[in-house]
This record gives sequence, C-alpha cells and structure tokens, in this order.
Amino acid sequence: MADWSRIETLPSERLDALFAADADRLKRLSLDVAGIHFDWSKTHLTADALAAFEALAKEADLAGRREAMFAGEHVNVTEDRPVEHTAERGEGKADSVARAASYHARMRAVIDAIEADAFGPVRHVLHVGIGGSALGPHLLVDALGRDSDRYDVAIVSNVDGMALDDVFDRFDPAATLLVVASKTFTTTETMMNADSVISWMTGAGVDDPYGRVIALTASPDKAIEWGVDETRVLPFSEGVGGRYSLWSSIGFPAAIKLGWEQFEELLDGAAEMDRHFRLSALHENAPALAAFADLYYTQVRHCETRATFAYDERLRLLPSYLQQLEMESNGKGVTVGGQPVGRPTAPITWGGVGTDAQHAVFQLLHQGTHIVPVEFVAVTEAGDTLPAEHHRQLLLNAFAQGAALMKGKQADDPARSYPGDRPSSTLLLDRLDARTLGALIAFYEHRVFVAGVLLGINSFDQFGVELGKEMAKAAAKGGGDFDPSTTDLIARAGLA
Ligand code: F6P
Repeated sequence: MADWSRIETLPSERLDALFAADADRLKRLSLDVAGIHFDWSKTHLTADALAAFEALAKEADLAGRREAMFAGEHVNVTEDRPVEHTAERGEGKADSVARAASYHARMRAVIDAIEADAFGPVRHVLHVGIGGSALGPHLLVDALGRDSDRYDVAIVSNVDGMALDDVFDRFDPAATLLVVASKTFTTTETMMNADSVISWMTGAGVDDPYGRVIALTASPDKAIEWGVDETRVLPFSEGVGGRYSLWSSIGFPAAIKLGWEQFEELLDGAAEMDRHFRLSALHENAPALAAFADLYYTQVRHCETRATFAYDERLRLLPSYLQQLEMESNGKGVTVGGQPVGRPTAPITWGGVGTDAQHAVFQLLHQGTHIVPVEFVAVTEAGDTLPAEHHRQLLLNAFAQGAALMKGKQADDPARSYPGDRPSSTLLLDRLDARTLGALIAFYEHRVFVAGVLLGINSFDQFGVELGKEMAKAAAKGGGDFDPSTTDLIARAGLA
C-alpha cells in the first residue's frame, strides 16, 4: 500500500532558496535522453522529494508494473487486455512485437502500392477518425510534414459537416484516397464522415469509391462489412489503445506523407525512450522524474491544472494531443481494485503556443491566484527560413518566461508585483525530426503510466466517455430519458 504521507509532508521551500542551497541542483534535476534535454530544476522537487517518490514507487511496485506492461500481461485489468503500444516500436513481448512488425509490413506494402499508382491517381489523402484515431497522426503530419510535397493530407475528426466541407472545397474526389481510421469501426462521427466522403465521391462520378478506401482498425471484420476490401484493411492489435495508437496503422497518414523511412525513425526514437524508461534508475529516468513533479503539484500543492506551451509552431498540436493522452488516461476516480482513489488524479491539461500565449494567458500564470506548473517545449534548431533572429527571440522568450515565473518581482505597487516561486520545467529538443518526436511522445506516454501506477489507477481504459455517447445515440433515435432542460434544448433546435 503506497504511503502518501511522506509526500504530503514534504517541506515547501521557495525555488530560489532551493537553488541557493544546492550547487548540484541543476545537475541533479536535468537529463539528456534521445536528443531531448529535460530540466526540472525550476520545480520544487528536492533530493528529499525524490527519495520520497522513489519509496512510494517501490511500494506501488512501479518496477513490477512496468515489466508487466512490457511483458504483455493484462495490465489493462478492466478490459482484461495487454497494453501493446511499445510492441509497435519493437519493445515488448516477442509475439506482440512480431505481430506488430507483420502489420507494419502490410502497411508498407499498401503505401508502396499507392506510390506505384495501383489505386489510380492519388494526390489527396483524406483521413477520417476521431480522438486517438486523429490527434496523434494529426500531430505527426503537422509537425513533420511541412516540407514534404508528397501528398496533400487532411485529417477530419468533427462530425460538424463544416470540417468536411472545407476539404471538399479543395480536394479532387477522383484523386482522393479515403482513409477510415477507427479502432472499433463503430464510432458515430467517423462512420458518418466516412459515409459522407463516399457520397461526395459517388456524386462526383468516381467509379467504385470503396476501391479508394483504406481502413485502419482493430476490427477488420467491421471494416470489411462496411465495404472495404480485405486487402485494404490495415489492422492493429486490440491491445493498442486509441490514444497510444499513432505507432500502429493509425499512423498511416504520417507514413504516407513523410515516407516509410521517416516513420521507422519515429518508431526507433520511441524505442530509445522505451529502453531508457525500462532500464534507467528512477532518479535518472525522464518519464519517472516528470511524473514525480506532476504528482508533487497535484498532491502537495493541490494544483488543479498543468500547462504545456510549445515554443515551436510545428508543435502547435502538442497541447491538444496531450489533453487526450493525459486526461483520458488518468482522469479516473477509482483504483484498479474499484475503490475511490481518495486523492486528485490527472490535473486538467491545457496549454498553447509560445510566444502567442504570453500575450493571452500568461497574466494568470504570473499573477493569478492559481499555481499552474508550466512546461516549456522548445527546439534548438530552427525550422523556419527567416533570419536567425526569429528563432533566437522565440527561444529566449521561452527561457525568460521560466526565469520570470520563478524569480518574481517586488514593487511598491501591488498591481505591479509578481510573487514568483512559480514552477516550470523545460524540454529542449536538439531538433524536431521524426526520431526526436518519437522519443518525446513515448516520454509523455510513460510519464502518464508512472503517474497511473503511483495513483493505483488503470490508465488504459476510458469508460468515462461512454455515457455521453449512449445518451447522444438515444437522442438521435428520438428517445432517451432527458431532464426538462435537455428536452427543451432538443425541441428548440428543432430536433425533437
Ligand atoms: O470516445 C473516446 C474514444 O473511445 C477514444 O478513446 C478513441 O481514441 C476514440 O474514441 C475513437 O475511437 P475509435 O478509434 O474506435 O473510432
């Protein structure tokens, strides 16, 4: 049984005092892994806090749970499944790794066939999917695909028809490949969007529109039933959770946009982080240290949110990707044993892009009444073609914000004073390439896992999303047992 009292009773000194008291602070709380420099020295973690978290991790059997995950045990207890996303990058149980490799080979063969014009002319790739079947691939394509002229890829998730309308305006139906991404192949939004793309193609006179569909799914039978030829179904394992699935065939839009070599680089970068997570002692283990900092702020300082600011335009989708990864994984109220957790679980994850966010939300970070642990993510090597001064300004702004949050400033006028002592961490990537992004995303996955284990929760189910889906489905069928307010809203919108 994990004893949290050792964490809750940790003394809380100011950050500047912590720096003054420990000449080794920066060294102790920073790491370089897989092309990423991690710096937690501006958090309130101390040597004592680390020792307390390591003891807690021992009690929670973090090492055992980690091995159980890599060994393919059914750590997703509520769904009685293994957790197999690391096998997608070659790390895990041998049969899971072999299966993932054969699925990857199949994906590669289909991409080769598309490139060889076996599907007729393809200039546009229209990927429909939602949640984990969209956020990961979208992040990859947006971050890494900017300089690629290999296919015009659009990723549509929303059931709001405006999302598809925008794509229909610019894509040629006769040169479009429809990619339907859904683990279950039952998700309402995705299936409705897929049907509408087929209608758009049919309306434009495309012969055999189903012949221009690729399905990415863990439910191949359902895809075939919907109309996709078996040879165009790219499967992945049930054990790969939706929000952990970009490494599987769900990463298809990235693989086709970037080319297969780049996709493999992504997997290799993630595998490097897997090995680091699996083999490193906790005091030098990036996902563990990040999770310890996160837990310190939720459990000791009662912070309800945590914010990530990407100081790189290419990573502008990172905050929304992290929202699903972190909140769908650890936004839980009961333990693996079904008991109330009895303490805060995942903080609300939010964020934005620097420097824009500085001129919008940073006021609250510097002077507001909420303490928000901030994470800065920046890249040393510039991605733009403008004079170097742009990137210099960008990075210096990120670093200065972290310094200002910590230092604060006293002035005679309270309105012009800054309390300081506000925590931040910094992740500085050498460059933004497929390999480093793979490592970064795997780092976030393992960080979520560590927090889940210490909290005693299952990070791999998501039953919390079901009730709303059920009620929307009932309403769509004209039924449902709704309260007066909801009944009135349905009637007012003319939907009764
Ligand atoms: O509603 C949540 C969810 O189940 C996510 O976990 C998942 O990523 C998303 O829906 C999409 O599901 P699917 O890939 O089965 O369409």
